[in-house]
Amino acid sequence: MENITTEKQKTVLSLIQPTGTPTLGNYLGALKNWATMAQEYDCIFGAADLHSLTVRTEPALLRKRTLELYALLLALDLDPEKNIVFVQSHVPAHSQLAWILNCYTQFGEAARMTQFKDKSQKNADNINVGLFDYPVLMAADILIYQSDYVPVGIDQKQHLELARDIATRFNSVYGSVFTVPEPFIGKRGASIKSLQEPEKKMSKSDTNAKAFILLTDTPDVITKKIKSAVTDSEAKVYYSPDKPGVSNLMDIYNACTGLSNEQIEAEFDGKGYGDFKAAVAEAVIEELRPLQEKFDRIVKEKTYLEQTAADGAERAARRANRTLGKVMKKVGLWKF
Ligand code: TYM
Repeated sequence: MENITTEKQKTVLSLIQPTGTPTLGNYLGALKNWATMAQEYDCIFGAADLHSLTVRTEPALLRKRTLELYALLLALDLDPEKNIVFVQSHVPAHSQLAWILNCYTQFGEAARMTQFKDKSQKNADNINVGLFDYPVLMAADILIYQSDYVPVGIDQKQHLELARDIATRFNSVYGSVFTVPEPFIGKRGASIKSLQEPEKKMSKSDTNAKAFILLTDTPDVITKKIKSAVTDSEAKVYYSPDKPGVSNLMDIYNACTGLSNEQIEAEFDGKGYGDFKAAVAEAVIEELRPLQEKFDRIVKEKTYLEQTAADGAERAARRANRTLGKVMKKVGLWKF
């Protein structure tokens, strides 16, 4: 982080899907970094509701989740006056640019995306074109704001690389139209694993609710889920690829407290997993407490949420339309 916090006014963009309540993985891998970057940069953050359409969701539920996610983003203290906090579908230019970028993306490139392959397996009865095209819409989200940095978890790295490839290709044909974005992936917390199967990433779509911690989970629930996290039979706290469960809890503890592996190992030297898990649970509860308190308050303020989202959409659209206009002209669309 040090080397980039010294630069001012770079543009930072990231979005999160309203597919359910975000998990501790979303928070430690992405949202926590958004909150830090919001202090220093020109930031644009949003709810990627168009991306969520790739999986069938009951309309009223999608609307509710989008509103709640928007409230959660505001609860992160992203400062919606200095930064832009918006909902993707409120800015039509994203979809317009996505169509144009489709024509500059090779079928083979999109077909290589591992998330497409995973999601196709999970949604075998609905492998729609949107699911395939999803990374191109994501590239449009990023490139339309001339973003310099994109704070994401490791699972989005391949999509970021595709966005960079599309930008570079487009620029090589039309001159420098897009800023080529850099991913910003935190040193720890970028890949939080399932509490039950620590070889897999923590995901809110996991069928086992004990596998993830939701940002709205109560302290009691958080404690129970961490207590039941899978570890091993060695009863010794240290970081190792042979100890994925314990290493994952150490990643969580590190991301919440800032303590290094050595400090954590020293703290629990001679103690069992019971003490360790209790400390991890406490750290998570304390980390989430201010966010949860603010969320509970803001989510009820519907007028404030609507006004802030309308303002965010207007300011986002103004910036997005600038890039879209330039792109339309470059590719030869009739514009006057
Ligand atoms: P989404 O909604 O799946 O996740 C939001 C963010 O959370 C990160 N993340 C994790 N980080 C660490 N450990 C985990 N277990 C974990 N699970 C999720 C993700 O990497 C992501 O940063 N396609 C994106 C949303 C998107 C987007 C964009 C992101 C749409 N347009 C433009 C950046 C820029 C997605 O589905 O993220």
